[in-house]
Amino acid sequence: MTVKKVGVLVGSLRRESWSRKIAKAMMLQSPASMVMEGVAIDDLPIYNQDWDDTGYPPQPWTALREKIKSYDAFVFVTPEYNRSVPAVLKNALDVASRPHVKNAWSGKPGGVISVSPGSIGGFGANYHIKQTLACLNVAVMPQPEAYIGNASSLFDADGVLTDSHTLGLLKKFLAAFAVWIEKNA
Ligand SMILES: Cc1cc2nc3c(=O)[nH]c(=O)nc-3n(C[C@H](O)[C@H](O)[C@H](O)COP(=O)(O)O)c2cc1C
Repeated sequence: MTVKKVGVLVGSLRRESWSRKIAKAMMLQSPASMVMEGVAIDDLPIYNQDWDDTGYPPQPWTALREKIKSYDAFVFVTPEYNRSVPAVLKNALDVASRPHVKNAWSGKPGGVISVSPGSIGGFGANYHIKQTLACLNVAVMPQPEAYIGNASSLFDADGVLTDSHTLGLLKKFLAAFAVWIEKNA
């Protein structure tokens, strides 16, 4: 068994983001078979194909593309914006998918966790990102699905995840993900 390097992308820039807190709680439970690392996506100019066509893409795009290539697998932890994925995360997916035929995501396995203070746990975002990941040739773990609802009630005053059901779900997700990436990375 080789230790896999897993990039964790969070679809929120908000300081007190529930999604980021869930990502942190997940990373604290990371099994020995993987090293999980947060991937910053807050400095990326919005994708504009002209900059690739000129051959002078912005430096943050180039840095993200190189970074994405360095991982074996990814976990996407996303809020839901208007039943879809927040633009900041979609932009990161788009940036590292280009230039054409240089899709940095291709062939790597992934997992998706959606998070919302609402009761349906970001179902729309969870499915929308999977549509994009299929296009990017990311093999997304089908089960267990991870929809985390009522997010504002899961943490203590210090932002530590205390809800035992959600902790159990994250453990189950990671155990299955370890097997998934062993097979697909
Ligand atoms: C533009 C926008 C659209 C939103 N649309 C949804 C939505 O479709 N479904 C939902 O459950 N919450 C929606 N919300 C509420 C978010 O779930 C909430 O702001 C959440 O805290 C964002 O995730 P974060 O805590 O990780 O930043 C929306 C929020 C914003 C700002």
